[in-house]
Amino acid sequence: MTVDIKKGLMGVTVDETGISKVMPEINSLTYRGYAAQDLCANCEFEEVAYLILNGNLPSKKELKKFEKEERKERTLSKSLINIIKQIPRKSHPMDVARTAVSVMGLEDKEVTDNSPKANLRKAMRIFSKTPTALAAFYRLRKGKKIIAPKKKFTFAENFFYMCFGKVPNKEIVKAFDVSLILYAEHSFNVSTFTARTITSSLSDIHGAITGAIASLKGPLHGGANEEVMHMMKKIKKPENADKWINNALNKKAVVMGFGHRVYKSGDSRVPTMREYFGKVAKIKKDKTYEKIYDIVEKVMIKRKNIHPNVDYPTGPTYHLMGFDTDFFTPIFVISRITGWSAHVMEQHSTNKLIRPLAAYNGNKYRKVKVLKKR
Ligand SMILES: CC(C)(COP(=O)(O)OP(=O)(O)OC[C@H]1O[C@@H](n2cnc3c(N)ncnc32)[C@H](O)[C@@H]1OP(=O)(O)O)[C@@H](O)C(=O)NCCC(=O)NCCS
Repeated sequence: MTVDIKKGLMGVTVDETGISKVMPEINSLTYRGYAAQDLCANCEFEEVAYLILNGNLPSKKELKKFEKEERKERTLSKSLINIIKQIPRKSHPMDVARTAVSVMGLEDKEVTDNSPKANLRKAMRIFSKTPTALAAFYRLRKGKKIIAPKKKFTFAENFFYMCFGKVPNKEIVKAFDVSLILYAEHSFNVSTFTARTITSSLSDIHGAITGAIASLKGPLHGGANEEVMHMMKKIKKPENADKWINNALNKKAVVMGFGHRVYKSGDSRVPTMREYFGKVAKIKKDKTYEKIYDIVEKVMIKRKNIHPNVDYPTGPTYHLMGFDTDFFTPIFVISRITGWSAHVMEQHSTNKLIRPLAAYNGNKYRKVKVLKKR
């Protein structure tokens, strides 16, 4: 009997969600009904985080309460700081994020409580503490002292402060905030589906987010923003770009930062992020990567009709902001924790164990021979 296998679950609808959707009528990614680019233009990241976690945009009062809670929870326990201090300095920060969230689960008194209220409280703690853990590792591996979070700063400002000891100008912070908004949620992508699959056995949110981080690390998913930067560094100069990308395509290479399972004629997040990439390049007085960006994009569209995804502009933007390349995907994590958490809560509220089937193509039945007869 032949079975119709949908490799990679391509085109398969496995469940319902009310969190986000790429709406064809406006050709855009929407969170809870709002277009991501409208949210970028009109909100700060904390408002969008609230929206994703709670379902609606906050009132002034609700936002104040949310921000107060987020800022209160930023501090890490002494034992988590000590664990981060012991992590080999050469580790990938995605593995540090994964370990940190796992340890947070060991320390969280509500770890086994999967009620909606407890899950929201736990989500807030993971959301607030993960940037602190990542920034601590960022400093330690450079031989610098850890900088404690400051309550007076917004989520974005505080991350810059904990990594670099200072907050850059408002436009740079806004560009970072915009990237966080664009990265916050994207329906049943591989890391979110991983989180939902873990949740479906009625496991806990710390486990689900730990697994999601491992999934996001891969270069076919979140890791693409780092690969984009590696590519741009290899290209080095705009004069090399045309030849480099044509050579890569002649060799049938997969070019990171291009293509998408859902968007086939352009990722709706790209124009917004491209605009902010340009703003940051202007402030930093460095147009090298912008020029490389445009040439590679042009060739990819002309030769393959494959368009950039959001990782293409975020990579060089984070580079110009001063972040190490291997910190690009961890920045994606600190934002996507909101989307993952909302999906964990949604999965709990309508749970059905996720357990697909596989068509067996292994050995036929055979009898076991005892060791001495094999
Ligand atoms: C994201 C991605 C995995 C989506 O893949 P998918 O939906 O499974 O589509 P496929 O990989 O089957 O791609 C379809 C065709 O386009 C080609 N293609 C897709 N993305 C490509 C890319 N970035 N560079 C070169 N060719 C690409 C494939 O080689 C394939 O060609 P073929 O039909 O001749 O074999 C894929 O586009 C990719 O690997 N992109 C690079 C990684 C990346 O940027 N990831 C971040 C996503 S947000």
